[in-house]
Amino acid sequence: MSPILAISGLSKQFGGVTALAGVDLTIEEGEILGVVGPNGSGKTTLFNVVTGVHRPSGGTVLFRGHDITGLKPHAISRAGIGYTFQQAMAFAGLGVLENVRIAGEHVGTGGTANPWPTPQALLDFVGLSAVTNEKAGVLPFGSLRLLGLALALATRPSLLLLDEPAAGLNDRETTALVGLVRQLPGHGISVCVIDHDMKLMQMLCRRLAVLDFGSKIADGPTETVLADPKVLEVYLGGDL
Ligand SMILES: Nc1ncnc2c1ncn2[C@@H]1O[C@H](COP(=O)(O)OP(=O)(O)OP(=O)(O)O)[C@@H](O)[C@H]1O
Ligand SMILES: [Mg+2]
Repeated sequence: MSPILAISGLSKQFGGVTALAGVDLTIEEGEILGVVGPNGSGKTTLFNVVTGVHRPSGGTVLFRGHDITGLKPHAISRAGIGYTFQQAMAFAGLGVLENVRIAGEHVGTGGTANPWPTPQALLDFVGLSAVTNEKAGVLPFGSLRLLGLALALATRPSLLLLDEPAAGLNDRETTALVGLVRQLPGHGISVCVIDHDMKLMQMLCRRLAVLDFGSKIADGPTETVLADPKVLEVYLGGDL
């Protein structure tokens, strides 16, 4: 099967800073791919370029065989790529259900059958049924993160990019999140997840790609990559 996303030679300069230096990466249909790397290695930039937040300096991004390189974020979202931000985001003054309803107005054409036909069904899935009428701004951090996931799913992506979805979550919340994300491929949603927590990545991902200074230095089965001397060296003294 052809990959759902095929990135070739992707580069991004910010002034004199090379955030991405010619990255090749594929995401296969139905997989949960992990992207790891030290702080500042280009992980978030990779997502920002794929989703159109930033224009790449070079390279191409093919989504289901279509060239989406340099398209605007709304066009990429409509094509079927969803995104949760490193910082959880929602309309603080609006209700939880209302936030999901509004996000659902931006449904793209790339999605297939909708596993969650109503905002309520989606909130049930992420475990926020009890707080549907609360204002998003009063939610505790963990719930806000789950709402962020619900907002991304409401756009009915066929590929979902998760940037540090478990950052700031406690163990119980992280376990719940893992349970949710693992179900996504069964609903026709391929996933690419960034995180620093290698235990989390081992639970979620059969394959890992590693970035270092904007270049991909490893890509393969999770256990192989985590034992790779090049990867260990990058994390020396770090949190691996
Ligand atoms: N909008 C921007 N303007 C200028 N430089 C940027 C911008 N975004 C990222 N950078 C730089 O690009 C490099 C890669 O940053 P990026 O945020 O992609 O790293 P990251 O791997 O996501 O790091 P972290 O693990 O800390 O989230 C860094 O040197 C960063 O300072
Ligand atoms: Mg980042």
